[in-house]
Amino acid sequence: MKIQNITVLGSGVMGHGIAQVSATAGYNVVLRDIEQSFLDKAMDKIKWSLDKLVAKEKISKEEGDNIFSRITPIVDLKEAVKEAELVIEVVPEIMELKKKVYAELDQVAKPEVIFASNTSTLPITEIANTTSRPDKFIGIHFFNPPQLMKLVEVIPGEKTSESVIQLTKDYVQSVNKQAVLCRKDVPGFIINRLFIPMVHEACYSKDRTGASLEEIDSAVKFNLGFPMGIFELADFTGMDVIHKATSEMHLRDKKVIFPHPLVEKMFDDKKLGQKSGEGFYKYSDDKYERVELSEKLAINYNPIQLVANIINNAAWLITNGASDIVEIEKAAQLGLGLKKPLFETAKQIGIENIINELNSLAEKHGEFYKPDPLLFTMK
Ligand SMILES: NC(=O)c1ccc[n+]([C@@H]2O[C@H](COP(=O)([O-])OP(=O)(O)OC[C@H]3O[C@@H](n4cnc5c(N)ncnc54)[C@H](O)[C@@H]3O)[C@@H](O)[C@H]2O)c1
Repeated sequence: MKIQNITVLGSGVMGHGIAQVSATAGYNVVLRDIEQSFLDKAMDKIKWSLDKLVAKEKISKEEGDNIFSRITPIVDLKEAVKEAELVIEVVPEIMELKKKVYAELDQVAKPEVIFASNTSTLPITEIANTTSRPDKFIGIHFFNPPQLMKLVEVIPGEKTSESVIQLTKDYVQSVNKQAVLCRKDVPGFIINRLFIPMVHEACYSKDRTGASLEEIDSAVKFNLGFPMGIFELADFTGMDVIHKATSEMHLRDKKVIFPHPLVEKMFDDKKLGQKSGEGFYKYSDDKYERVELSEKLAINYNPIQLVANIINNAAWLITNGASDIVEIEKAAQLGLGLKKPLFETAKQIGIENIINELNSLAEKHGEFYKPDPLLFTMK
C-alpha cells in the first residue's frame, strides 16, 4: 500500500500542525473537525505558520501556496475519509470520546485504511480492540509543536501488523521526523514515562531537601543537560497536560508515578504554568519567559534523587521489552532536548550510588523506589 491521502481528525493544537507537516511532505490532506468554525481557525493558523516560513525565506511563496492548497477542511466524516489510506486521530484525550470517534470512523472508512492515534497516554490495544481492524491500528505520538519537534513515538498495539508498523515509520520519516518505536503499549510510552514521574519526584525532592525551585532547576539544567529546569519544563508543558497524563498513567500502573499532591492542587487552582501566568513560577505575561538559573545555584543541590527516578524508569522500559538504551537516548535527546545522554549522567554519578539512593528512598518511602533489576547488571 502507498500512502498519498491522509485525513487528520481534530484540528486543535496538534491536529493543525500534523496536517501542515503532512502537506509539506507532499501528501493530500483532509482536515476534519466537528464544526466549520474550528476548521476556519485551524486553516488560519496554518496560513500564518506558512507565511512566517515564507517571510524567513525557508520556503518560497509558491511552495507555501502549494502546501496550503493540499489541505482541504471538511466537516462531514464520510466525505473526509473517502480517499484516505491513513487516518490520524487527534481528538481530545478522553477515552470515551476516542472510542466513540473510532466507532463512527470504523463504519465509514474502507477496511484497508490505517488508523493512527496521537494519544499521549491512552492504551493503544484497548482502543484498537474496539475497532474491526486492530491489526491496522497504531499509536503515532507527535510532540508539541509538531511543526518543530523532531520526535514521533510509534506504538504498536498487541495486534498491529508488521507492515503497518513499517508504513507508519516510513510516513514519519517522510514528514522529516525521527521515529522511535515503543515496542510495547506501556503507560506513558517512552517520553512521558521518563518526564511525568520526574516532575512529581522534583516536588518530593524539594520537600525533602529544602532546596529552592531555582536551585533544583539549575542543577537539572547545568548538571543533567536538560534544556531548562524540570519545574520550568513543567510550566512550559502546562499543569493541565501533566495532571491528565499523571491520572491516565497512574490509573493503569501504580508503579509508574508516585503522585505528589501539589500537581493536583496546582491543576485545581488553575496554576497551569506559562499559559495561565503562574505555575511553579510566576510569569508577567503569557509569553515564554526565562527563569534566572545559574551554575552557581546548581552547586547547592544534588540531583541524585531525580537521576535515580528517571534512570529507574528507563531501566523499567528496557527490562519490560518496551525499548533499549539507544532508542531511549534518541527519544530523550529529541523529545526532552537532553544535551547529555541519560545513562552517561548515571554512570558519572555511579550506578552503585544510584542503587543505594533508590534503596534508601525505598526504605523511607516505600516499594515505589525499588531499583529495577537491570541496574544491578550495570554496576
Ligand atoms: N497538546 C499537546 O501538547 C499534545 C502533545 C502530544 C499529544 N497530544 C494528544 O493529541 C490529542 C489532541 O490534543 P490537542 O492538544 O490537539 O487537543 P485540542 O483540544 O487542541 O484539539 C482537539 C480537536 O479535536 C476536535 N474534535 C473533537 N471531537 C472530534 C471528532 N469527533 N472529530 C474530529 N475532531 C474532533 C475538537 O473540536 C478540537 O478541535 C490528544 O490525544 C492529546 O493527548 C497533545
